Parts: sequence; C-alpha cells; structure tokens
Amino acid sequence: MKSTAPGKIILFGEHSVVYNRPALAVPVNQVQAEVDVCESDQPGVWIDAPDIDLHSDLSSLPHDHPIGSVILRVFRHFDIFHRPDLTITVHSTIPVASGLGSGAAVSVALTRALAEFLGRPMTQEQINSLVFEIEKIHHGTPSGIDNTVITYNMPVYYIREQPIETFKCGQPFTIVIGDTGIPAPTKEAVGDVRRLWLRNTSYIEEIFDEIAQIALIARRSIESGRPELLGELMGHNHQYLQQLSVSSPELDVLVAAAQKAGALGAKLSGGGRGGNMIALVDPASAESVAAALISAGAKRAIITKIN
Ligand code: MEV
Repeated sequence: MKSTAPGKIILFGEHSVVYNRPALAVPVNQVQAEVDVCESDQPGVWIDAPDIDLHSDLSSLPHDHPIGSVILRVFRHFDIFHRPDLTITVHSTIPVASGLGSGAAVSVALTRALAEFLGRPMTQEQINSLVFEIEKIHHGTPSGIDNTVITYNMPVYYIREQPIETFKCGQPFTIVIGDTGIPAPTKEAVGDVRRLWLRNTSYIEEIFDEIAQIALIARRSIESGRPELLGELMGHNHQYLQQLSVSSPELDVLVAAAQKAGALGAKLSGGGRGGNMIALVDPASAESVAAALISAGAKRAIITKIN
C-alpha cells in the first residue's frame, strides 16, 4: 500500500500563526515523501528508510522516534495490540530540516499508507489530527499549519483552532525557493520568539498584528488575480521577521540576491535562521533568479508554480 505527501512553503505569516494570527501556506509537489507498507515474512514491523540510513525493527527504536512514534500512534488509534508482520519503506525527496515540512510529510504519507494497509482508511481530518499530535512531540508548540497544508494538499489560509479555509488563485504565480542548506532550528526559533514576546508583549503583539494584515491583504491579492502585489508584501513580512530575530545573514543574502536578480519580492519562509527563503518572480525570470540564488550560496533552488 503506497501513499505520498507533498512538501510545503509558508507564503506569509510564519511565527505569528503560533499566536493565532492567519498564515498562508501552499503545497510543493515537486518534492514528495513516499511510504510503502507491505506484508513481510520476517516477524516484526521493519522500517527501511535508506535516505536517513535507517533499517530497524520498530521495537528497537526509541518510543519518540519520528517514524516509530507515527506507527505506534496509528496502531493505538485502531486499538491494535497484535502487530502484523510488515515492512515499511520510506523515501523522501523533501530536504530535511529545510522548512519544507519533511517530517510532517513523512508522517502524513505513513499514517495514510498504514491505515489503508490495515483496511481502515482514515479521513483527512483524522490524519491531520494524528499528525498534529506527532508534530507536538517534535516541535514544542506548533501552530498546526504544516500538517494541515500537507494533509489536504491544498493552499490554506490558516488560523489556529479555526475551521480550515482553503483559497483559490485568481491567477497562477511563480515562486523560486532558495535553500540556505543550513538546518532550520524551528523549535529554537519559536522558543526565542516566545521569549521576546514574554519580555515585550505589546510590541511583539503589534508586529503580529501587522503580519496578520499582510496575510489578509495577500489572500485578497491572490484570490482577485493580482499576485504581482505580493512582492511588496513579502518585503514587509521579511522585515517583521527580522525584527522577531528569526532571519539570519545567509537568509538576508539570498533575499537580497533574489531582488537584485529581478524578483518582485522575497522573504524567508518557515521557522527561519536557516532553511528556505522564497521569491516571487515573473515566470520569464525564474531561471535567472534561481541561478542568482545558487551563485549567492543557496544549496538548492526549486521553481514552483502556485495555482
Ligand atoms: C514552521 O513551518 C512555521 C512556524 O510558524 C511554526 C509553526 O507554525 O508551527 C515557524
């Protein structure tokens, strides 16, 4: 039984989304996690994840292992005590710790494939809430945006604890994703924003409100088919993220390089301090912006069309 899940990027509103402000995120289908669950002659539940050099029996993994904990949750969800003999193969082309949601994508694909293998397919809602529980083990206080956009594989306008809203693009637009190659320490960045917020709540709340306005205007611009307006909004959002201390010299260099190469706007995307930045581009200049990002030190550049 095979299942796949896409990567994701946050267009606007990372970090403030943890504080109940809206954020916009879209799936990135050029990169995928893929999980295959099949019966095995070998006793036990075996996990094969060659990309991370893992070949292990479930019972030998620590109980909070990112893959093992998903499998245990699915068994618990269905009250399965006698585990079937299985081999679970995990592959992913989503760069790890880059802000593209690699962990959440593996969890979603694994949950879906395992549930289907067990003959008990889960609804999107059930998968989303199970994966959110897993995200909480690994990320502290996640907003839930990553698991939501990846589970539903649709653009989302996300506000914590509110019904999921998806949005449609009035006109497609092109984004270049540039990877610093530095693992994004999301949990640490979220923790540092929390410390800033505790020290200076009213000032940080004002920043969150400004970012919320940006996310709202961005949604309207996308829906009304005027994505060119997003460029300037990206610039403003990036400045607020700098004030929240989650940018880094490497991210700022890539943002500046994208702008110099003709991008309409650029910002960091995700937890920050490392990981990815995104740039809004005219389709005609996508290749040259991607090349400029590589020259400026990006380890990888992905061109993606949002529609
Ligand atoms: C991480 O992809 C996005 C953050 O806003 C954290 C979260 O929403 O859980 C930084």
